Amino acid sequence: MPFCVWKTGPVDVSKAVLITGCSSGIGRATAERLARSGWTVYATARSTDSIADLGRAGCRVLELDVTDEESMRAAVASVEHAEGAVGVLVNNAGYSLSGAIESVPLDEVRRQFETNVFGLVRLSQLVLPAMRRQGFGRIVNLSSMGGRLTLPGGGFYHASKHAVEALSDALRFEVQGFGVDVVVIEPGLIRTGFADAAVGTIADRSEDSAGPYDGFNQAVAAATAGAYRNGIGRTLGGGPETVARAIEKAISAGRPHTRYRVTGSARLFLTLRRLLPDRLWDALVARTFPQPKP
Ligand SMILES: NC(=O)c1ccc[n+]([C@@H]2O[C@H](COP(=O)([O-])OP(=O)(O)OC[C@H]3O[C@@H](n4cnc5c(N)ncnc54)[C@H](OP(=O)(O)O)[C@@H]3O)[C@@H](O)[C@H]2O)c1
Repeated sequence: MPFCVWKTGPVDVSKAVLITGCSSGIGRATAERLARSGWTVYATARSTDSIADLGRAGCRVLELDVTDEESMRAAVASVEHAEGAVGVLVNNAGYSLSGAIESVPLDEVRRQFETNVFGLVRLSQLVLPAMRRQGFGRIVNLSSMGGRLTLPGGGFYHASKHAVEALSDALRFEVQGFGVDVVVIEPGLIRTGFADAAVGTIADRSEDSAGPYDGFNQAVAAATAGAYRNGIGRTLGGGPETVARAIEKAISAGRPHTRYRVTGSARLFLTLRRLLPDRLWDALVARTFPQPKP
């Protein structure tokens, strides 16, 4: 049975869970599920108004923007003040920046990496000293099947998730000796606000994009929305609670797997990507994404 502070000999060990990006989707479902199961949960979001109901559902609620150093420091300090340490960090906050690589302004790319990669790294750095001190910790990083395959029009998102995979592999080795486990979650298509946010990044740019990639970017937006609404997402996808279940499994296990693939869509696409040579993979994705041409 999980609880916040448990005794292992002379030292108190905190298993309090800090989750980023709880205003919607996977973060919200995870906070709800873990609180129901008896974990001490610190649910966080950029705006605490968006998670006030999680407070009523038993979570502690904190403001946390993963692109803001002060905000990250304050949230970690507040959990450490109350619990001694963040026992479990769930790096969930993230979104997909979509669009052909040549067509996306670099400041948008920087924001993508600030959110999906640097926020995750910085929070891990901030929680690790107290995890090491208590000899226990678990860092759960939300990657994606998109951290191990790449779809056109999603180059920056995929690059950010490939970075999460690489960083997690290095960190897992570096902190294991201190009693800290690092786990990667690789969801497939999960019905949340994710697709709308991805499509939104293209729509926001559509006025300036009457260029060579305009049609392609619109096709990427349509394919993204379609995959979740009508396509494979409906049959082989899942809801956010499917990922929440995998996260609870990962933090409850005595010896967690290093990676958890979630949903049939993740297993199918990752198997296809492993089996198909690059050109065949390109031919497969060309059935969905029209190749930009002069
Ligand atoms: N849905 C999928 O198909 C899927 C598949 C694989 C992996 N994932 C990954 O799962 C994670 C959660 O996505 P989701 O599907 O639950 O999407 P979602 O419903 O759009 O939730 C994304 C969350 O991230 C938060 N966020 C964005 N920027 C932030 C920032 N700077 N600081 C703090 N929070 C921030 C959002 O908060 P605001 O409300 O403040 O914007 C929101 O709570 C992401 O890392 C995503 O890449 C999703």
